[in-house]
Amino acid sequence: MSRNPDYVVGEMLMGIFGWQEYAAVAADAVLLRVKERDLPCSLALGALGLNGITAYFGLLEVGCPESGQTVAVSTAAGAVGSIVGQIANIKGCKTVGFTGGPAKVRQCLDEFGYEAAIDYKSTNDIDGAIASVAPGGVDVYFDNTSGPVSDAVMRHINIGARVVICGTAAYPSWNPWNTGPRPERHLIVKRARMQGFLATDFSDRFNEAAAQLANWIREGRLRYREDILEGLENAPGALQRLYSGQNDGKLLIRLAAAG
Ligand SMILES: NC(=O)c1ccc[n+]([C@@H]2O[C@H](COP(=O)([O-])OP(=O)(O)OC[C@H]3O[C@@H](n4cnc5c(N)ncnc54)[C@H](OP(=O)(O)O)[C@@H]3O)[C@@H](O)[C@H]2O)c1
Repeated sequence: MSRNPDYVVGEMLMGIFGWQEYAAVAADAVLLRVKERDLPCSLALGALGLNGITAYFGLLEVGCPESGQTVAVSTAAGAVGSIVGQIANIKGCKTVGFTGGPAKVRQCLDEFGYEAAIDYKSTNDIDGAIASVAPGGVDVYFDNTSGPVSDAVMRHINIGARVVICGTAAYPSWNPWNTGPRPERHLIVKRARMQGFLATDFSDRFNEAAAQLANWIREGRLRYREDILEGLENAPGALQRLYSGQNDGKLLIRLAAAG
């Protein structure tokens, strides 16, 4: 039921409402009205939700890719990364993905259209691997991990590169504060820009992104993968699955069948 005249009964809404089948929330808790009802509603939590929207604004508004440029993406097979790579392809860029394990490398190449994919877990020469697949350097680096992959990519950025800081999966905890190689010299010499962002910076444009992403899905230009666990009892451990790379696509927990 709805006591808010702006929301009618039967509307589907996306927000951070907690692990529950029913929630009473104020209107400002709603992140997105789900309008793409011809597509599976689970997409509102993935490709058409925060993951897709993060990929969309992070790449297009922060990364500012241009056709013909090289875009590198860490966690390239992940819920955000797989969409970043595909949007970059749609925009005419050359794409290089980093991911863990041969199965995810195949996904990157066969499903998500990356031109090259590097298995960072099986190579001890990430620098050499980048140089061989992106000899012209990297113009946009969409960073979901920080850590050793990012340290290597920084050595290959081009003049005027944009480094988009989306996530730090390699360092899931900020306690203690991590230290490591410093990017400043690369940024100076390459006159590059490194910028963090939160998807919520663009919350007034979420529906624009969802509508465009949905059209790309309908046109068969944007593919997605979901890894759905059944029941609340699977919630503990799901996060650990995410941060050990065991998830196979957007990790979701189904509480009840959608009405
Ligand atoms: N800025 C924002 O507004 C915003 C919004 C949403 C999400 N995010 C961030 O975006 C990132 C991706 O989120 P997602 O939901 O799409 O998750 P995801 O990429 O589907 O899953 C996380 C992936 O991180 C990789 N990973 C785990 N431990 C790692 C390590 N030690 N080193 C390198 N990679 C590691 C694994 O992929 P591999 O098997 O390929 O290693 C794992 O599958 C996360 O860091 C998340 O916090 C940011």
